[in-house]
Amino acid sequence: MRVLCFGSLNLDHIYNVQEFVRPGETCKALSVEEHCGGKGFNQAAAAAKAGLPVSLAGCIGEDGGVFLDKCRQAGVDTAHLSRVEEPTGSAVIQVNQRGENCILLYGGANQLVTRAQIDQVLAAFEPGDVLMLQNEISELAYLAEEGARRGLRIALNPSPMNSQITPAILEKATWLFVNEVEAEQLCGASEPGVCLQRLGRMCSGGSVILTLGSAGSCYGGPEGTFEQPAFPVSVVDTTAAGDTFTGYFLADILRNGDPASALRMAAKAAALAVTRKGAFDSIPWLNEVEAAQM
Ligand code: RIB
Repeated sequence: MRVLCFGSLNLDHIYNVQEFVRPGETCKALSVEEHCGGKGFNQAAAAAKAGLPVSLAGCIGEDGGVFLDKCRQAGVDTAHLSRVEEPTGSAVIQVNQRGENCILLYGGANQLVTRAQIDQVLAAFEPGDVLMLQNEISELAYLAEEGARRGLRIALNPSPMNSQITPAILEKATWLFVNEVEAEQLCGASEPGVCLQRLGRMCSGGSVILTLGSAGSCYGGPEGTFEQPAFPVSVVDTTAAGDTFTGYFLADILRNGDPASALRMAAKAAALAVTRKGAFDSIPWLNEVEAAQM
């Protein structure tokens, strides 16, 4: 079994600020940093750091060489990354003093994913392999459709939510990862139990993993329903906490098949990630997560 993450790569420009800038305001940032990010890259890195064999497919521009080094560091295979004549995707991220973020995205190369590229990449994978998807690249609907048609199991994080996320995409998910805001946008409910039921139906009986910020996370699927409190930590930066959670949950469920264990592992990894700055650099390694006393 192999894991293919077909998703975005963004150069993150992270501004640490006292408070988020408001309309008409000009504010001084306390510091600025550049990190590798993008939900596709972050989730591939998290799953690889958690011990899965992961390939990352997507598009970068001439300015995207740094991702090859970072993938090598995390053990992510880059054979399916394409270079295109458009700058690599980018994000301007404000992080306030409470560790909250707001993100402005420019799709760039991520929006040049084509059907021909998707066909070529998917041909290298087999039924039963896992396809990790998010919503920051072009041709997502085709990718989900083709992945499912070829028998790949789909781990879908429909983030950021927009009109590209259709019922046809959702019903292909074997695992659906959403936060409470996305859950409400998709199913109109805010009560976690109701969300698990409704979203479970929307992904044709697949498993739903719902993250609830400081209230923890929960799972609904064929094995039943499970809950996991969040581990209390001092929050520095929440960027990529959800991506870390997704990669770690997937690695653990594929290894052990136990949703309770996967939720716990993912919650621990995400708790460690929010104590550190950045996206890729904040994602812990498996030995750090296993050793963490929480
Ligand atoms: O989930 C965090 C990521 O969202 C950042 O790395 C940014 O690039 C955006 O894709």
